[in-house]
Amino acid sequence: MTTITPQEIENEMIRIVEQEIAVHELGDHSPTLTTTLRSYITRPGRRIRPQLLVETACAYGYTNRTVLMRVAAATELLHIFALLHDDRLDGVSRVRHQNTPKDTYAVTPAHHYELLAGDILHTIAHSVLVDTVHDFDIAREILSTVRRISLTTIAGQAMDMEFLHKNAPLPSTERLKTLYDRKTGYYSFVAPLSIALLLAGAPSSEQITAQRAGLALGRAFQFRDDLTDIHPYITGASVPLPHPANWEFNLAGTYLYEVHGTDSRSKWSTNASRTRLLSTIRFHELAQFTEQQVEFELNDFRDAVSELRPDNLCPMDFLVSIINA
Ligand code: IPE
Repeated sequence: MTTITPQEIENEMIRIVEQEIAVHELGDHSPTLTTTLRSYITRPGRRIRPQLLVETACAYGYTNRTVLMRVAAATELLHIFALLHDDRLDGVSRVRHQNTPKDTYAVTPAHHYELLAGDILHTIAHSVLVDTVHDFDIAREILSTVRRISLTTIAGQAMDMEFLHKNAPLPSTERLKTLYDRKTGYYSFVAPLSIALLLAGAPSSEQITAQRAGLALGRAFQFRDDLTDIHPYITGASVPLPHPANWEFNLAGTYLYEVHGTDSRSKWSTNASRTRLLSTIRFHELAQFTEQQVEFELNDFRDAVSELRPDNLCPMDFLVSIINA
């Protein structure tokens, strides 16, 4: 049984990124850029994508540690690329930049480097995969799969921003699920599962089922994540909250549309109308709506997993911990 710890994944990412920083003399070009790269790759993260990949590959009998380490690190680098761009789009950062006052969300010039750091990690992740395919003669299809999913993720981010646009489709649950698939599910769950199955040479019928399992898990994950994010805006918080982008409220907008029949999209754009709207929402009702969706997706996930070849695709307690965090 090959186990790779989250710390080993982080060390591998540091090795890969430091090598590129040295080769391209990025520290000489811009110390702020290198600091941003280092802060994001070493920030505390749960490393769920590499763990999902490694555990699944092992369950299918694939154990080459060097390959697993590299491709798992590449999936986490792609995640950090998505976080960096997400932070810039949302106008808040999940790491503190040098000279930024504590507990403030002010955007300093250092924050603009996040876009560039994201571009670098995206490029590095893809070249790690190309080199690994070349050096170890693993399935080339890994490259086309990851390229396709990278584009889907970027387009999903655009769809996220357009979610509340006047001319966008009505905020139905179906639309929200499609958004969740595109911006999270494919890259966070389908990609690690698909890569693991490609490494192990699993039949393509398994790939289709694994994709269904990954998307269902991704939806459950994102429903809960959005509920957690909106919680302090509805129930009040002891610390000052950042002003979020208006698309941050897409779960609440969908709930108001599906449960109350109200298309509230035009009301999310100003602070005053948003505050009024939030005061009309009872958190426990939003939570109930969300949990119904989570339950539905988890049932679909369990159904799909039961059709896969290994009895234990990946330790169930790990999968459940992803959803419960
Ligand atoms: C957060 O993902 C971003 C989403 C896709 C919702 P994670 O919860 O996996 O992020 P970290 O890396 O563990 O903080």
